[in-house]
Amino acid sequence: MQLADRIDLVSPSLTLAIDAKAKALRAEGVDVCSFSAGEPDFDTPIHIREAAKTALDQGKTRYGPAAGEPTLRAAIAEKLNRDNQLPFTADQVLVTNGGKHSLYNLMMALLSAGDEVIIPSPYWVSYPEMVKLAQGVPVIVPTEERHGYKITPEQLAAAMTERTKLFVLNSPSNPTGMVYSPEEVRAIAAVLMEHPQVHVVSDEIYEKIIYDDAVHFSIGAVSPELLTRTFISSGFAKAYAMTGWRIGYLAGDRDLIKAATKFQGHSTSNVCTFAQFGAVAALTGPQDCVETMRQAFAERREVIYQMITSIPQFTCAKPDGAFYIFANMGALGMTSLEFCQRLLEQKQVAIIPGVAFGRDDTVRLSYATDLETIRRGCDRLRDFVAHL
Ligand SMILES: Cc1ncc(COP(=O)(O)O)c(C=O)c1O
Repeated sequence: MQLADRIDLVSPSLTLAIDAKAKALRAEGVDVCSFSAGEPDFDTPIHIREAAKTALDQGKTRYGPAAGEPTLRAAIAEKLNRDNQLPFTADQVLVTNGGKHSLYNLMMALLSAGDEVIIPSPYWVSYPEMVKLAQGVPVIVPTEERHGYKITPEQLAAAMTERTKLFVLNSPSNPTGMVYSPEEVRAIAAVLMEHPQVHVVSDEIYEKIIYDDAVHFSIGAVSPELLTRTFISSGFAKAYAMTGWRIGYLAGDRDLIKAATKFQGHSTSNVCTFAQFGAVAALTGPQDCVETMRQAFAERREVIYQMITSIPQFTCAKPDGAFYIFANMGALGMTSLEFCQRLLEQKQVAIIPGVAFGRDDTVRLSYATDLETIRRGCDRLRDFVAHL
């Protein structure tokens, strides 16, 4: 069959090979320790589930407005004002099928063929692929481990060209777990202020999962002028353990939101109606569930960090946010894919090769799993490295 050219633009997911193998081993009854999941291992809090059930019983089962339920759009705008000091109104919010869909809609509504999008590496796997699907050009800027894998203002300035349309900022970061400090965000913003044609999308999906003294500071709050060029992409998956609900949002300039709504209206239409009422409950209900999960991640972070840093061949900074730990295994002299494949075959531990995020000398472990699995899996990992 002759497939569309655009399919050849996107790379197959390298992580799938590991994931498929891990699942096949599990199905055979093998005891696999998996650190591959990018999702909380908790159930969605009960009051959120109850709100969706009530909405179902109340007949919220029909098509809704493509941009989202007005109550949810208003609740999201209120949250952005309250938590992030971003004075958005409800008509500046588009409810999407997850954070991924919000980013995709943005790319499709903003980019013209040949527009450049600056993406610091390591990056979340889907950013470059989405840019390519929208006929844009991903401009990958490799960051340095000694800078905490964060792009510096100098690097950002050097990557700017006349074709630059968008800069992608992700803090807390997947895969590195790093959080840009308010000072670092301001320094990045200063570069953007010198390039008035450039927009920034801030992917803040992990904003509630941060540790110790780390602070989440949204780049849109730096100045009213920059806010007009800032898009916020976020969702409910990580903070509220709602990965399968598929609810996210895009917030920003009204014209762009209108354009993205038009695009969404001809592709997916509205997000599942009754699910949106669960999301309203998530934002307006008690927030202690978010803190309880954050504390569980914080405890796991301590354990996994101690265990990973006890492996002499690994270097690794303590993550400030999200639920990933990102280790450099370059000293071992093999590709990240080979390392992960052999680890899975020989020790039944599933981790993600850094090449998937643009860094082949690294691996990513998700600690969205129980402490027992973390201890057992890291023991096996240490043993594997010791016998290489
Ligand atoms: C950095 C980042 N952005 C966006 C998403 C998309 O999340 P979802 O589409 O599940 O809301 C993810 C999911 O893993 C992510 O890690």
